[in-house]
Amino acid sequence: MSSDLLKQFSLEGRHFVVTGASSGIGRAMAGFLAGAGATSILVARRQNELDTAAEAIRATDGKAEVVAADLSQRENIVEIAAQCKAKTLNGTVDGVINAAGVNLRQPVEDITLDSWDLTLNLNLAIPFFFTREFVPEMQAQGFGRIINIASLQSTRAFPNGLAYGASKGGVCQLTRAMAETWSKHGICCNAIAPGFFPTELTVSVFGSDDTRNWAAGQTTIGRNGQLDDLSGITLFFASPASSYITGQTLHIDGGFTAK
Ligand SMILES: NC(=O)c1ccc[n+]([C@@H]2O[C@H](COP(=O)([O-])OP(=O)(O)OC[C@H]3O[C@@H](n4cnc5c(N)ncnc54)[C@H](OP(=O)(O)O)[C@@H]3O)[C@@H](O)[C@H]2O)c1
Repeated sequence: MSSDLLKQFSLEGRHFVVTGASSGIGRAMAGFLAGAGATSILVARRQNELDTAAEAIRATDGKAEVVAADLSQRENIVEIAAQCKAKTLNGTVDGVINAAGVNLRQPVEDITLDSWDLTLNLNLAIPFFFTREFVPEMQAQGFGRIINIASLQSTRAFPNGLAYGASKGGVCQLTRAMAETWSKHGICCNAIAPGFFPTELTVSVFGSDDTRNWAAGQTTIGRNGQLDDLSGITLFFASPASSYITGQTLHIDGGFTAK
């Protein structure tokens, strides 16, 4: 492959903020970005897990910074974003991955206004309000990458998925609306919709042979996801290689939604 073509996928010198980077999908994506040369700025609440994740990146000669923060506290969003910008050379963050999320899996009668708000706030509102903080600098440099995390439940209804499904359906439309608002400034906004991946969020699925095998059986490939299955799409959406793709949600689900 020519070096010009390969350069399209390089993230050398770039800074990416990754929320939900203390575990699971966010942690894995922060590692992929750092592996391609970026500095990953890891955001979540648990300091120890963030430090461990950052150390793992540095152990493979990657660059990582940590900002421990509770993103659900709306009044702190501007300050948390400022802390992230302070980890860069000139205050410019090149991309944001919004992977922090919750899935409470509540039966309909257990849903309260508070639990509904918790889910819709973290999964849908915060990706907008947090990302918006980084846009002026992206706009000024004419380059930015926003990656939201959607779900099978963006388009499918699962049991006990009312609030989660509503939030993830919203993520797809938020992604289109972000694209409409910001893409003319070189800011591409896309979403990844993972199938079933083993993380803290899916312990209830992977903890039982029945549900794990059921999920694998719904795919055309015949297995559930592994975190490394997200590496290619992460680099593609984060890099200049995807500069004419925006407002899209790509399902990384082994063909689950193809059936
Ligand atoms: N795993 C799957 O199969 C799957 C499928 C489709 C979509 N997704 C989506 O992928 C995203 C990541 O999920 P995951 O599977 O990787 O689950 P996970 O391992 O539980 O990760 C969730 C992350 O969100 C962070 N977080 C939760 N509340 C937060 C808060 N108030 N402030 C800051 N960070 C917070 C957690 O860190 P702290 O606890 O340290 O704050 C953790 O790093 C979610 O949006 C999820 O809906 C996952």
